[in-house]
Amino acid sequence: MKDNIKEILFTEEDIHRRISELGAELTEEYAGKQLLLIGVLKGCFVFLADIARHIDLDCEIRFLTASSYGFSSVTSGKVNIDKEIDFDVKGRDVLIIEDILDSGITLTALRAFVAKHKPASLKTCALLDKPDRRQLPINADYVGFICPNEFVVGYGLDYGERYRNLPYVAVLKPEIYS
Ligand code: IMP
Ligand code: MG
Repeated sequence: MKDNIKEILFTEEDIHRRISELGAELTEEYAGKQLLLIGVLKGCFVFLADIARHIDLDCEIRFLTASSYGFSSVTSGKVNIDKEIDFDVKGRDVLIIEDILDSGITLTALRAFVAKHKPASLKTCALLDKPDRRQLPINADYVGFICPNEFVVGYGLDYGERYRNLPYVAVLKPEIYS
């Protein structure tokens, strides 16, 4: 698996340092409130597990599943959200946790999907942001790192469901993507 890596963009240390900063920021921002964290599966599972442990608040943690890529590094432009929301969102302070904000298509669809349930507040947090790739006008309220315009894997992010368990964020060798 590691033979397929061209370059590490964000090391395990970089990520852990940044997540503890973000967690402290969120703890301050939502002080005194109960926070509903909604993770976007599957890519969020590592990021959410780590950031949740740096948010020193009463949190409820839920998940939604969204997919648009399949076995490809190019978005299909169509987002599938797997189910209706079966937990209370109305009047809650909601923070959507995403692995990466790329074209913006997924987060736009998810935000609208959650907003229909009338939360008291709705913000978004993405570990990585690739602003150069945006097709829709959306930004995350909290971002871990600005990511160069490359398809990345690791720390929850996959290529064909592999590489999610790498502890860092990396770019694969070009021949792997073809
Ligand atoms: P968007 O809808 O184009 O913003 O893409 C968001 C989703 O696509 C993310 O939640 C990821 O699952 C996936 N994605 C986008 N860019 C990458 C990448 O560089 N590596 C792995 N997955 C990606
Ligand atoms: Mg994916």
